[in-house]
Amino acid sequence: MTIRVCFVCLGNICRSPTAEATMRLLVEEVELRGRIEIDSAGTGAWHVGEPPDRRARAAAKRRGIDIRGRARKVIVGDFEDFHYLIAMDQANRIDLHRLAPNEAAERKVELLRNFDADSPRDAEVPDPYYGGDDGFERVLDICEAGCRGLLRHIRDMHRL
Ligand code: 4NP
Repeated sequence: MTIRVCFVCLGNICRSPTAEATMRLLVEEVELRGRIEIDSAGTGAWHVGEPPDRRARAAAKRRGIDIRGRARKVIVGDFEDFHYLIAMDQANRIDLHRLAPNEAAERKVELLRNFDADSPRDAEVPDPYYGGDDGFERVLDICEAGCRGLLRHIRDMHRL
């Protein structure tokens, strides 16, 4: 079985594409490409069709991470297509819970930082959109820690 993970933020141009690219790199490092598929989406539609934010791409590139894709809005069908919908902050989580068609779908939603054992319970990935460049560095650090924990969780749960 292929495990499918979708990272979700507000615009799908900063945090969730960063998490998607970070997770993809970690999955490739342990040669699980093909077993774990990764995507991202936004709860808002303002940036649909746009490439990831230039500042997010620049910060990731300095770490050898390539952020790609075009923004899309999350749809109810994503609850069928994905096993995990990973929210960046509480607002994203609430929006996903509202969209979820049933309880099984709701249980697929979790905050990224809850997979990081060193992170406080229910901590958020802060929105870097209106801040300075250091916000994007922080998003990368947080995404790496969260994605490492998420990957460990998936490997344990699905014996990969
Ligand atoms: P993201 O960042 O949710 O991490 O992609 C944002 C991008 C755009 C906006 C807010 C957050 N916006 O208000 O347009």
